[in-house]
Amino acid sequence: MKKNSATKDLKFDTKWTYAPAPESADHIQLKDRYDLFINGKFTAPASKKYFDTINPATEKRIASVAEANASDVDKAVTAAKNAQSKVWSKLAPAERGKYIYRIARILQEKARELAIIETINGGKPIRESRDIDIPLAAAHFFYYAGWADKLDYAFPGMKTSPVGVAGQIIPWNFPLLMAAWKIAPALAAGNTVVLKPAETTPLTALKLAEIIQEADLPPGVVNIITGAGATGAAIVNHPNINKIAFTGSTDVGKIIQKSLAGTDKRYTLELGGKAANIIFEDAAINQAVEGIINGIFFNQGHVCCAGSRLFVQEGIANEVIKKLKQRIETLIVGDPLDKNTDIGAINSKAQLSKIKSLVQTGIKEGGECWQSECAVPSKGFWFKPTLFTNVAQSSTIVQEEIFGPVLAIQTFRTAEEVIEKANNTPYGLSGGVWTDKGAKAFKISSKLNAGVVWANTYNKFDPTSPFGGYKESGVGREGGLHGLMPYVNLF
Ligand code: NAI
Ligand code: MG
Repeated sequence: MKKNSATKDLKFDTKWTYAPAPESADHIQLKDRYDLFINGKFTAPASKKYFDTINPATEKRIASVAEANASDVDKAVTAAKNAQSKVWSKLAPAERGKYIYRIARILQEKARELAIIETINGGKPIRESRDIDIPLAAAHFFYYAGWADKLDYAFPGMKTSPVGVAGQIIPWNFPLLMAAWKIAPALAAGNTVVLKPAETTPLTALKLAEIIQEADLPPGVVNIITGAGATGAAIVNHPNINKIAFTGSTDVGKIIQKSLAGTDKRYTLELGGKAANIIFEDAAINQAVEGIINGIFFNQGHVCCAGSRLFVQEGIANEVIKKLKQRIETLIVGDPLDKNTDIGAINSKAQLSKIKSLVQTGIKEGGECWQSECAVPSKGFWFKPTLFTNVAQSSTIVQEEIFGPVLAIQTFRTAEEVIEKANNTPYGLSGGVWTDKGAKAFKISSKLNAGVVWANTYNKFDPTSPFGGYKESGVGREGGLHGLMPYVNLF
């Protein structure tokens, strides 16, 4: 059908723009300076040092936070140890559950404020922090609160006892959610906690410390201390820590594993990924395109389970790539506080340089690079949605985690070929399969060497579902019943 010129002008995706719809940030309550949360109180650091935390979308300072040194870590661990043996482990399990429920409910009450703080401190779109990060964080506390007095049913025929003090080190991509993943199961099983948020995103964890005060948790049950790698290492190496839970880079995961070798400390490591998102010819193409977009551009691609390697079956490759480019041009990149924004700011200057340098390597190695034509703000850290074609299994950008909005596209002919390619990576965290055939979805997903595989969807999370990887993506599971296991002794 020949289009008349009037219809041609009605191209909503290019000719029309959204009016700004910024979430107002004037009601949030933040202090100008945060001390360490130890033994139920905000306490000045022995180090006497503070560092600034900024908004990556504007590069403006938001607040300063304390830098905990080894003596601060010792204070926090001692508080946690006393609280564990004298108070928390002595409480009736149902009472522990009540405290955890209380945290969950206060998180819900303060959801709007927390979403805004998550967005201004980390750069992620308000739509994501509002609809995903904060509700899921509350859901994790609700879920594990329910297990607190049901541990006998979780592990039938066995008795449980707490492991002791958990040292928990979390990253900057899902700050409050990762705190919830770590704290909720630990408390439910009778352990106490020393948690360190990432140095670029400490604010929602510090708000959580205030919530924990408000929930009237016994002092020392949860301690939240801020700092960078050295603070994390001091937690890992403290003799009174019984278990380490770490989410972050594979490099640091390996350092932690080496430090813990030969000790009786338990550990779970949730590390990097390079997931294969596989699209078969019989898939519903438009849905698959949405799934590819969600897989790689959710949270600017700062996602360990991001679908960063796309495998498209040859017969539909041109169509999928064309539709993908059209869809990417409609994505709104910019002010993370704007409710229309799809892609926010890159979390830090350091992460932006890592992304830029890997993209340069991709181009140098012969990859064909395509980028969205979108405009990005002049201040702040930004990276346009990027696709690479003409890449090989051996390409650096196919092998290494970029942790940014960059997708490497390859094609395949047969199921055997794509399984081999998908598994040819040091990682094994997640994957995606898109097909109209249920049997094929099960067959392919069972052959993918990955902890989580989504079929005809991507990046779906639920507190009841275990999450974790194989190979260099880490060890242990978090979430669900499996997520209780690292926090209990069974006998
Ligand atoms: P990182 O692994 O250095 O940082 C994660 C957490 O570990 C932070 O809280 C940090 O302070 C702490 N940490 C750093 N060094 C430590 C040490 N020696 N001992 C104990 N704790 C330590 O990750 P970074 O440098 O922020 O990001 C580098 C790359 O790591 C990213 O580009 C991405 O590829 C990957 N990454 C993966 C994440 C995931 O969810 N699996 C999360 C964050 C980063
Ligand atoms: Mg690092």
